[in-house]
Amino acid sequence: MARFWLCAGCTVFFLAFLILHSRFSGSSVLREFIFQISWRSEEILYKLDVGWPKHSEYFTGATFCVAVDSLNGLLYIAQRGDNIQKVLVFTEDGYFLRAWNYTVDTPHGSFGHTIKKYSSLGDLVQVLGTPGKKGTGLNPLQFDNPAELYVEDTGDIYIVDGDGGLNNRLIKLSQDFLMLWLHGENGTGPAKFNIPHSVTVDSSGRVWVADRGNKRIQVFDKDTGVWLGAWNNCFTEEGPSSVRFTPDGKYLIVAQLNLSRLLFVAAPPVGSIGYCSVISSIQLADQVLPHLLDVSGKTGAIYVAEIGAKQVQKYVPLKS
Ligand SMILES: *[C@@H]1O[C@H](CO)[C@@H](O)[C@H](O)[C@H]1NC(C)=O
Ligand SMILES: *[C@@H]1O[C@H](CO)[C@@H](O)[C@H](O)[C@H]1NC(C)=O
Ligand SMILES: *[C@@H]1O[C@H](CO)[C@@H](O)[C@H](O)[C@H]1NC(C)=O
Repeated sequence: MARFWLCAGCTVFFLAFLILHSRFSGSSVLREFIFQISWRSEEILYKLDVGWPKHSEYFTGATFCVAVDSLNGLLYIAQRGDNIQKVLVFTEDGYFLRAWNYTVDTPHGSFGHTIKKYSSLGDLVQVLGTPGKKGTGLNPLQFDNPAELYVEDTGDIYIVDGDGGLNNRLIKLSQDFLMLWLHGENGTGPAKFNIPHSVTVDSSGRVWVADRGNKRIQVFDKDTGVWLGAWNNCFTEEGPSSVRFTPDGKYLIVAQLNLSRLLFVAAPPVGSIGYCSVISSIQLADQVLPHLLDVSGKTGAIYVAEIGAKQVQKYVPLKS
């Protein structure tokens, strides 16, 4: 059965990820370098797919998050607003499939502070945290506006908690929700956070966190949780709100919300992360506000949840 997770906060909640098994097929595992930005002469890597989606009339709220199920070619979009559908399911081709809103909180409602796992058809299968109650506890797990999560193929879960101010935590859980490690302190030093907003994992075992309030990206060893370094130099104007890698692992794609900008940063090879180097960027129109994004592992397409423009747009690689 398809499964995916929705991360719910009081003022925000995010559809953050998904793992899959198709319910119908009953099968498949869903499965530089100085102390300033080095803006190399930019390569153009991606272009907007203007024909996507085929049914934009389904965007009826603030589209704040998107998750790709590349194996099945599906896209889950979460939007907030009153009396609307909260989760929209599209195909990667841009066709609308279905939507639901039961058990998904309203963003200003009183049932936030949870992380919810759904089947691909919208059945709620797991809730972490206490609905409506923000908290700092680890046993049981209590959240305060968890911002995003990332689930590996192994089922391990990385959570950034997040957007509320009470907690500034990066938590790794096993697939049966045992805590494997945690960094939980607010602050500006190594392994401390101020609004950790997005998290992803690369193929060489490193965890990348958009530490938005501190205007930096921090990197950790995924097995031990050991701090490996931080990038500050690319984000002096505004902190990163979303991080994802391109499928070839060459670039880290970073969204900057208020600047309405996407940056493509060179992904460092195994080992020291060095300094941050911007290779390419996409400047969106003012007030588009790219909030969170996800990347199709199969096609390399980037889907960007634009909370200001109230839409999701698709960017496709020029070379593949
Ligand atoms: C669910 O969506 C429908 C529109 O499709 C809307 O009429 C209804 O009010 C929504 N329910 C909630 C709880 O938002
Ligand atoms: C976290 O630390 C930052 C400064 O690093 C401070 O501005 C903020 O108020 C702190 N938040 C909490 C919840 O203590
Ligand atoms: C974006 O701007 C809004 C409104 O000025 C502000 O509340 C928010 O903190 C800003 N976000 C970031 C990531 O700078």
